Amino acid sequence: MSATGSSARLTIQDIGKLYADGQRIPMLTAYDYPTARILDEAGVPMLLVGDSVAEVMLGYESTLRVSMEEMLHHTKAVVRGSERALVVADLPFLSYETPDQARENAGRFLREGGAQAVKAEGGVRSARNMEAIIRAGIPVMGHIGWTPQAKLGMGGKVRVQGKTREAAQRLLSDALAVQEAGAFAIVLELVPAPLAAAITERLRIPTIGIGAGAGCSGQVQVVTDLLGLGSFVPRHARPYAHLRETILEAARAYSADVVAGTFPGPAESSTMDPAVLDEALGRGELDRAPAAPFGIPLDRDL
Ligand code: KIV
Repeated sequence: MSATGSSARLTIQDIGKLYADGQRIPMLTAYDYPTARILDEAGVPMLLVGDSVAEVMLGYESTLRVSMEEMLHHTKAVVRGSERALVVADLPFLSYETPDQARENAGRFLREGGAQAVKAEGGVRSARNMEAIIRAGIPVMGHIGWTPQAKLGMGGKVRVQGKTREAAQRLLSDALAVQEAGAFAIVLELVPAPLAAAITERLRIPTIGIGAGAGCSGQVQVVTDLLGLGSFVPRHARPYAHLRETILEAARAYSADVVAGTFPGPAESSTMDPAVLDEALGRGELDRAPAAPFGIPLDRDL
């Protein structure tokens, strides 16, 4: 059962209703089919195909490296893996620099990728391009605070934003510009909790925080942080599982079993009528090999 109780895929109206009802909104990133299936089954109402895929799935050193084609590839997988969640696809670096380019690329995420919304970074500086997307009927989620696509321009080091009076006022103006552009929600990344709460109070669209405290309307986390899949956990994240260790253990145990000849065993193998095999190999009863390599008899009923 979804957060709204309906059976269709959630819409931005459903998200707006959760917000209006005062329900906090969980969101997670997803990049692949099996994970999307599980997160969808768990009832997470919004899945973000974040450009963080660059770092956490594709091994690039920064989000700047991921292309539109790669984002589309992952978006399609997440859409195939989910039935209920609203899928938001992240517009990658330099893919929404003009209104025309922004509309075209956002449209590709819906038309080719099957997403229901897109996300774009930047406040005042991106508002005009967001407006062009929204005028085309495409829902947009904004993203202000720490915006990884602008990281070089922001000094290159991941930092909490909005700590001075001027910076806090700029963030508020950014939030209002995104709202005025018509966004249905806005991500606040690495913003001091009291400032994020104040922005949330002043907006009439939901804020989705990451490293922005509990006063936001919802929260988003990078799924690999949540699952403990990476070797580094950012301060704002809380691992709810430790899959890196689980996978390490599983891979080591499997390798040891293969080396020892205990995988596959009878339960993981199939057998066949030995007479049919004899016929296929053109051998008589007496020619039959006593055992296959590694001591597993081929003609034993496994
Ligand atoms: O790409 C991403 O994962 C994001 C979230 C951190 C909001 O933009």
